[in-house]
Amino acid sequence: MDYRNFIDEQIQKLKETVKDKVAINALSGGVDSSVVTVLGHRALGEKLKTIFVDNALMRENEPRNVVKTFDKMGITVDLIDARDQFLSALKGLTDPEEKRQAITDTFYAKVFSRLVKESNATFLLHGTILTDIEETLAGIKRQHNILDQLGIDTQKSYGYKVIEPLKTLRKDDVREVAKLLDMPEEIRNRIPFPGPALATRIVGEVTPERLETVSTATNIVEDELGDSGAFQYMAVLLNDKATGIRDNNREFGQIIVLRCIESTDARDATATQLPWDKLNKICEKITNIKGINRCLYDLTPKPPATIEYI
Ligand code: XMP
Repeated sequence: MDYRNFIDEQIQKLKETVKDKVAINALSGGVDSSVVTVLGHRALGEKLKTIFVDNALMRENEPRNVVKTFDKMGITVDLIDARDQFLSALKGLTDPEEKRQAITDTFYAKVFSRLVKESNATFLLHGTILTDIEETLAGIKRQHNILDQLGIDTQKSYGYKVIEPLKTLRKDDVREVAKLLDMPEEIRNRIPFPGPALATRIVGEVTPERLETVSTATNIVEDELGDSGAFQYMAVLLNDKATGIRDNNREFGQIIVLRCIESTDARDATATQLPWDKLNKICEKITNIKGINRCLYDLTPKPPATIEYI
């Protein structure tokens, strides 16, 4: 594929489609939405409004870091604090699909629809890639950015038209495009991170306390496995407890699962054969987190497991 040509074509297309109207896009910090943001700004400049919604489910410092990274590239990103809205929508929910639905509904019906209205945008730029479309059509994964493919008329329901400049690309193509767009390595080579964020790594109810626990464990795992070359790695908080001993006292503590996988496109995956020393080190650090007294390593391939836990 001639990526340079792809970039020129998409920029031209965006200019011709949006003309003098306003477009909006939601940046997640992942490589797909980041590439769309840069392409969009090259084509539309100030006519593209880019927002980052803080849904309280992000990794530590993620919102501020993303805004800063784009600022360095000359792109202004509006940080929208919607933490309370997401947390109250998730309150009391334990069913995985209900949690996902609550996040999608809060994003579209509450937060994003208001922002679109306020911005007068008539176009929405989305980072959908070919794999997203294929998995949605095959019923494997329900992505909230595939409204068009699901037959939902965004013009009618939400008042905007969706543009998906990356819909013919796969992840490795997107990374090539990112390179040609001079995007920093920290964005280009980020491991995949799901839209519903840390909520996919909390089994059971998502509360501020449980988010803090999984976020601390995530920091440890990302720190320790950043140079592992694995496709994806994460910490997951289970909704169960186990007996342990701390300071000679019985403790009924929480359980964190470490997941580290090899994959090419996330459709199937196998557990990484991490060195024993590394596993022990991570286990020690994770069981030093308050309230955690067990750390398990997940060996299950996909299938039958999925990569995330909800
Ligand atoms: P699963 O858990 O379905 O994950 O095996 C496959 C890949 O997709 C990511 N993932 C998501 N990405 N929105 C996303 O943008 C989502 O709702 C979502 N759910 C899972 C996951 O991290 C893995 O890379």
